[in-house]
Amino acid sequence: MKLMSQWIPILILLALVVSACSQEDSVDELPMGDAARGADLFTQSINGAPPCSGCHTLDGNPLVGPSFHEYGKTASARRTGITAQQYTYTSIVRPGDYVVDGFSNVMYSQFGQRLSRQQIADLIAYLLTL
Ligand code: HEC
Repeated sequence: MKLMSQWIPILILLALVVSACSQEDSVDELPMGDAARGADLFTQSINGAPPCSGCHTLDGNPLVGPSFHEYGKTASARRTGITAQQYTYTSIVRPGDYVVDGFSNVMYSQFGQRLSRQQIADLIAYLLTL
């Protein structure tokens, strides 16, 4: 019994850390996105990161990455059991988690650090209008 009670603070701490991490990792924790701002951000280099438009077109022609022509449809169909929002979020902050067929894992990987939570939300809102 004594041994158990010694572990309780550590277990509580562990639970807190785990829940903090998983919150950070969910699209639900982002602020409300603004698609119009996202459209502007799409072509900008933010905080030293390359612009999305350097690798993604909107017209259906793949560049370094897939085109975002009709991306709204694509995003909900890519993976089962995950929303279009969550898929898009993960694709931005951890592009290596799921690599689209026919493409290489070469997307810039620091967007999660370089963009603000608001900017990520704005980009997601924008992409899902396409
Ligand atoms: C250096 C090139 C590069 C840049 C810059 C880049 N991407 Fe990508 N992106 C890729 C590549 C390559 C893929 C396909 C491989 C993969 O799934 O990771 C991809 C995949 C994606 C996907 C999944 C597309 C699909 O059809 O399922 C999304 C969403 C995405 N990128 C969003 C963004 C956003 C938003 C930005 C700007 C903040 C951005 N990308 C900047 C190269 C890039």
